[in-house]
Amino acid sequence: MSELRASVVTAFERRFERAPEVVVRAPGRVNLLGEHVDYNEGWVLPAATEQAVWLAAARSAGDDVHILASDFIDGEAAFSLADLAPRDAQAPVSWIDYPRGVAWSLQDEGHEIPPISAAFAGDVPIGAGVSSSAAVEVAFLAAWSALGKLDLDRLVMAKLGQKTENRYIGLASGIMDQFASAHSVAEHLLLLDCRSLTYEPIPLPQACAILVVDSGIRRELAGSEYNVRRRQCDEAVEILREHLPHITTLRDVTPEQFELAAHRLPILLRRRAQHVVEECARVLQGAEQLRRGDVEAFGRLIRHSHISLRDLYEVSISELDFLAATAWQQAGCYGARLTGAGFGGCIIVLAEAGATEAIAARLREAYAQSFSRTPRIFATRAAAGVKEMTP
Ligand code: GLA
Repeated sequence: MSELRASVVTAFERRFERAPEVVVRAPGRVNLLGEHVDYNEGWVLPAATEQAVWLAAARSAGDDVHILASDFIDGEAAFSLADLAPRDAQAPVSWIDYPRGVAWSLQDEGHEIPPISAAFAGDVPIGAGVSSSAAVEVAFLAAWSALGKLDLDRLVMAKLGQKTENRYIGLASGIMDQFASAHSVAEHLLLLDCRSLTYEPIPLPQACAILVVDSGIRRELAGSEYNVRRRQCDEAVEILREHLPHITTLRDVTPEQFELAAHRLPILLRRRAQHVVEECARVLQGAEQLRRGDVEAFGRLIRHSHISLRDLYEVSISELDFLAATAWQQAGCYGARLTGAGFGGCIIVLAEAGATEAIAARLREAYAQSFSRTPRIFATRAAAGVKEMTP
């Protein structure tokens, strides 16, 4: 039994003086290719991480939800289910907003949910672009689904997790993170079509390993540049539609069409849109290369994706650029790039399984020399999505 699972169950039993009725594991995710395209209805290639949020929960009496979050200093909070209202958008986001937001989303969709007691903890780095918040949302959705006999399927959980981010937290994010946390398949990447929400698991070649390298730089995403990027994509579509009337999102624009129409966009929107159009094409091409087992070619696309996020979408920072470029130079590295929204957080390195230790050592040394910081580095295989179990 995993250590985290055991410690969460123990924390629950100590605090609530009873055994939990349900235990849930919901993973974080890395995204190998397809960044900032989910909200443009494009294609993405994420995988769940072995690092996950563990949650132990049981129904409780009264109206109140009691939650113990051992990863946080102010790690205990309660709220009533009787009067949940939208969050004050000006207030800073706290960890309790995620479970409370999940409860609000469930009620807003008409679900009757029971009050619960819960304890949770995880080893997904927080606020680092590897979806710790999606993991918390999906974990609570799975727990409420089980305890309230709601029978939510994985797609409904992904959509409710996204709704929590969009409507409660205030981040206009796409569906990739919650979808990956809910649907991932061990040893596979998920090729997800963010318009139809259909997906195909594609095996990650055995010889590959994924390293996650945390720059240690944190940026608040809500109310930030993320929402600005999303608006810029919509603005680009508005202008392009005058000449390409069939399009509803940037996903509908092929690289060839874009080449002919790009001059109609102001320079900033042109850069943003070019990233999205080419990133969509990269994902489809990358999926094909993976099906053929051509990891080297796939790795090159990962590198191109970083360069595009850096130069066209402008969501990188010098620490991430440095880590990625250092990784590219190492023997056994297929590709490396920032993962998630950017502005801080992590890079992922796709590498030969035997090369990860040497690559990690070199990254530690080089990063410490240039930025006087030690990056937290961990390896992960592609893991399975959310799982609910009896304790
Ligand atoms: C965050 C969002 C996702 C996605 C990525 C960027 O992780 O939650 O929906 O937009 O950024 O690809």
